[in-house]
Amino acid sequence: MTYNSEIVKKKVWAVAGGKGGTGKSVISANLGIALASLGYRVILVDADLGAPNLHTCLNIKRPSFTLNDFLTNRVPDLKSILLDTPNNNLKLISGGIELLGLANIHYQRKMKLIRHLNKLGAEFIIVDLGGGTTYNTLDFFNLSNEGILVCNPEPNARVDAYSFLKNVVWRKLSAFTRNNGVLREVINRTNYLQENRIFEVSKLLELVKNEDENCFRMMGKILNDFKPKLIMNKVRRRSQIDEGKQLVILTEEFLKVKLEYLGYIEIDQHVIDSTERMMPFVLEYPKCEASKNIFQIIKNLIGGKEEEKSFRHFKKDMRIEARQWK
Ligand SMILES: Nc1ncnc2c1ncn2[C@@H]1O[C@H](COP(=O)(O)OP(=O)(O)O)[C@@H](O)[C@H]1O
Ligand SMILES: [Mg+2]
Repeated sequence: MTYNSEIVKKKVWAVAGGKGGTGKSVISANLGIALASLGYRVILVDADLGAPNLHTCLNIKRPSFTLNDFLTNRVPDLKSILLDTPNNNLKLISGGIELLGLANIHYQRKMKLIRHLNKLGAEFIIVDLGGGTTYNTLDFFNLSNEGILVCNPEPNARVDAYSFLKNVVWRKLSAFTRNNGVLREVINRTNYLQENRIFEVSKLLELVKNEDENCFRMMGKILNDFKPKLIMNKVRRRSQIDEGKQLVILTEEFLKVKLEYLGYIEIDQHVIDSTERMMPFVLEYPKCEASKNIFQIIKNLIGGKEEEKSFRHFKKDMRIEARQWK
């Protein structure tokens, strides 16, 4: 496999969804393996501290090291717990299994983990998160400004996805208010950042603008720098692709955040079959619709020279890769 040096800057993508079962782990694993097969160096991280299962998507039954070894200080760094896969470009950090209490890791441990995740050397670091909107999940999503949100077409899933983004923005602005008196004062006065209220960033911005131009600009920058991405998964009909677009519009209007629609993945029996066999579907069924969708998503994610590749090339790369996994 050739080493692809086109991308120098490291990308960290945390993959979240409002709730469990949206397809976060399957998508993380298949994006990871596809990127590694294309020649990029990838580290997959299972940060679902409640129910880690990313290793099962990569045919690893009993990981020899897990995040537990790091979180309980048995090893000094994350490099020590990188697991090999049949592809040299792809490493896995498996989630902790034995210590269930870890879903509530302490703040300091979490910060240490985040620091070390940011230090990992690879072109792409894909961090698979648990469902829900615990502070852990929000903070891991904020590892970079480019987290990926996986949503399903059901109305409930869209509400969950929107409220996840709302909470991420809330968490970002809350961190900012700690050092900014003006915003803190406006928020205290209006109760604007209370979690259960309808949270319209546009209104909050207007209020702040009247008080302090500088603070208004800084908030604008925080919102501008945040570039979350959306994948609609388990799509059954064309109209459901558009539901993703509605989420994009809603996010722009109420949260003042640009959500980039990366693409969709159809509901596909091949995904279910390969999951049962603990194998990535892009390797088992490179021709299937879901593999085609993953290819399109990769094009949208990294562009560059992948932009010119045809699906025929991609299928060939996946078939060659699959031989190493037999
Ligand atoms: N596009 C799809 N088509 C069919 N089944 C899918 C698709 N995406 C995910 N699944 C199935 O949904 C289930 C949950 O996926 P998983 O990735 O474990 O979800 P999460 O990590 O979000 O909890 C798995 O059984 C998986 O095979
Ligand atoms: Mg999962």
